[in-house]
Amino acid sequence: MNIIKTQNLSKSYRHKDGVVDAIKNISLSVEKGSFVTITGPSGSGKTTLLLTLAGLIRATSGTFSFLEKELTHVPDSELAHFRRKNVGFIMQSFALIPYLTTIQNVMLPLSLNNVSKSKQKSTAEAALDNVDLGNRKNHYPRELSAGQQQRVAIARALVNSPSVIFADEPTGNLDPALSVEILNFLKDINEKKNITVVMVTHNPVAAGYGNVKIHLENGQINSIVNKK
Ligand SMILES: Nc1ncnc2c1ncn2[C@@H]1O[C@H](COP(=O)(O)OP(=O)(O)OP(=O)(O)O)[C@@H](O)[C@H]1O
Ligand SMILES: [Mg+2]
Repeated sequence: MNIIKTQNLSKSYRHKDGVVDAIKNISLSVEKGSFVTITGPSGSGKTTLLLTLAGLIRATSGTFSFLEKELTHVPDSELAHFRRKNVGFIMQSFALIPYLTTIQNVMLPLSLNNVSKSKQKSTAEAALDNVDLGNRKNHYPRELSAGQQQRVAIARALVNSPSVIFADEPTGNLDPALSVEILNFLKDINEKKNITVVMVTHNPVAAGYGNVKIHLENGQINSIVNKK
C-alpha cells in the first residue's frame, strides 16, 4: 500500500532577491513500512522535500496524497489535523522546549490532540521507558546528554503512534556510537511497529539503513534505489 504519493511536486521560495526553485517535479510513491533515505548535496532540496511530505509546508505546484487522501489543497486546519494524527518529526537540533521537563516535552503532542492529562502522563511515561529514559522524566533538556536529548525527541515523535516518522539529519549532532544507537532504534520501530521512516542524511552509514534510497541533485530526483 502507498502511504505517500506525489506527482510533479515543486516548491519555489519567493524571496526579495528572487525566486528559488528548491524542488522540481518530484514524483514518487512510498510504500507503507519503507525506510526511505534522502541524500544529496547541501541546498539540493532535501529539507524542503521532507517538510512538504510531512505537510509542514505547501508545495507551489503538483499533488501530494497521504494514504490515498489528496492533501494538496485542503485547508490549513485539515493539514494540521493530518500532522497531529499521522506524523512524527525529528530534527538535527532536537527542538526540545528548554523550559519544559522531559515528560512535559513528550506530553506536548498529546495535549494538542485533546488527550486527558492522566492519559498524557501515562502514555508519555511509557514512551520514555521505551527509550530508556524513564528515570529522567523530571530533568530539563539542558540536564541531559546529546544522545539522551535525541531520545527524548524520538519519544515525543512516537508518542502519538504516528504512521510516519520524518527525520532531518537526526544524527547530525551526535558522535558515531550514539548515531548508531539512534539509527538502530529507528530501524527497530520501522521493522517491529511497521512505522514508515523518511530520513534525510549526509552520513553514508545512515543512508545504508534505507531500503529505498532517494538521491537529490539540484531539486530533482537523481536516482531512486530500491533494496529488496
Ligand atoms: N525559507 C526559504 N526561503 C528562501 N529560500 C529557501 C528557504 N528555505 C530553503 N531555501 C533554498 O532552497 C534550496 C533548498 O534548500 P533545502 O534547505 O531544502 O536544502 P537541503 O538539501 O536540505 O540543504 P542542507 O543539506 O544544507 O540542509 C536552497 O537553495 C535554499 O537556499
Ligand atoms: Mg537541510
